[in-house]
Parts: sequence; C-alpha cells; structure tokens
Amino acid sequence: MTLRAYRITGAFAQDALELLHAVTDVRGALEEDDAVTVWLDDALPDMPFDGLEIFELPAAVANASSTGLENDQPILVAEDLLVRPPWVERPATFTGIELIVPRGMAFGSGEHDSTQAALLALHAAWNDPVSFADVGTGSGILALYAMTRGCRRIEACDVEEPAVLAARELLEGADVTLGGPETMPWRADFVVANLTAKEQHAALPAILDRWTQRGPLVLSGMREHEVDGVAARLPRVDARCVRGAFTALTVLPSA
Ligand SMILES: C[S@@+](CC[C@H](N)C(=O)[O-])C[C@H]1O[C@@H](n2cnc3c(N)ncnc32)[C@H](O)[C@@H]1O
Repeated sequence: MTLRAYRITGAFAQDALELLHAVTDVRGALEEDDAVTVWLDDALPDMPFDGLEIFELPAAVANASSTGLENDQPILVAEDLLVRPPWVERPATFTGIELIVPRGMAFGSGEHDSTQAALLALHAAWNDPVSFADVGTGSGILALYAMTRGCRRIEACDVEEPAVLAARELLEGADVTLGGPETMPWRADFVVANLTAKEQHAALPAILDRWTQRGPLVLSGMREHEVDGVAARLPRVDARCVRGAFTALTVLPSA
C-alpha cells in the first residue's frame, strides 16, 4: 500500500487533524507546535479551515522510513539567505530571505556549489528589476529568488521536461518553456543562467539576445579554467562570486 503524506501548517492545523481522524483513516500523524504531518491511504479531503498551508510530501519521503531526505538540513547560502525543502523547519533564529524548494527530480535544490554561486551573485546584484529570466531553470530555484524578492514578471526555460514541470509548479504565474533561451517569450532586464561552460558557450548568443541590458546578467556553472573563455565573450565582467569549484560572473547594466 502506497501512503500519501501531507504537511499542514497554520493556526487550525490541529483542528484539521481532529477532523481527519473523524472522516478518514489516519495511518500516522506527526504533531509539532504549528504543524501536523498526516499519512493517509488516499488524497487529503477538502479542509474547511481558513489559512491552512498544505504541502504533499514526495512519495519517496512519505513511504520510506529511511530515504536520506530525513537528514536534509537548511542550507545557509549567505548570512541572510537560506534554502530548505518544505519538510525541514526554518532555524528559529533566522530572519532573512528563505527559498523553500522541494528536492525532487530536477537539478537545483540549493546543495550544488554552482547554484550557490549563482544565488550569491543574484543576491549581490539585485536591483529590483521589472523582469527576470532564468535559463536552465532546473527546479526553478533562481527564478524563485526573483519571485521572493518581489519580481512579478518572470520567465524560465529548460531543455528537460521534468525540470519544466517542477519549475511550473514552484513558480506560480511565471512563463516556463521547454527548450533553450530562444523559446522564452520576451526579453528580460535581469537574466541568469547556471549551465556548464560547454552549454554556456552554445547558448550564449541566445542568452544575450534575451537580455535588455537594463539590469544585470549573471552566468554561473563554470569551473576555474573555464571562466576566462566565457568572460571573453561578455561585454565586460563587473563581479565574480566563487563557491567551491564554481564561479558566477556578473555584468552590471552600463548606465
Ligand atoms: C546546472 S543545472 C542548473 C539548475 C538551476 N538553475 C540551479 O541553478 O540550480 C542546468 C540546467 O540547465 C538545463 N540546460 C542545459 N542546457 C540548456 C539550454 N541550452 N537551455 C535551457 N536549459 C538548458 C539542464 O537541463 C539543467 O536543468
């Protein structure tokens, strides 16, 4: 029997659990201060309570006693920037920007150094752009940064279908296309791409074409010996963020 598990947060989470005990067969429940996680045979029924946030855990997490996911920790990318999956609690003392990304099939839930280098570069160059594009979005984590900072016009693309599906789920209201940067519908002020150096070289003309140059351009995913080759094809480089073996390059708008 495959179980389904739901993490329910909000002021009425305990009331929701009581109702579930009455109307369905609760196979397991984990009660925390302001959250309950319930295991059920079927989908969660409608919950008639205001302000509940409901997140369904991935099937692997719901059905395994030891998946490795239970060892997940929040990832502190900078003092004021943290990435965590929804099933990991926020550290009580943390008050900065939080990116909540489920760890699924698509690349990019924050543990890779190239993602962290890109996030550091975004964080440093952030200038409240009107529009944002994420090339090679994976799970959607870099676009989620832009959304969390209040950017309302977001597009993203990826050549892998599981990534597109994951990003569409994470990035409500964003235009997420299957394919390279040329498939994105409009030109954006702030553009980010975290790709391998080989992929950067192949995609660079289309990436530059999607960039209005009114905001920063961030390219991540290059190893040290690959940085100069990519830098040589940019108008200039204004900043470099290094995390582990990976570098992100930033080009700031000229005016
Ligand atoms: C290194 S992962 C980055 C994922 C995420 N943006 C992050 O920073 O964690 C690169 C992603 O780019 C995608 N990709 C590779 N070449 C691409 C291209 N030319 N256009 C769009 N996506 C591409 C891959 O499928 C993969 O999901």
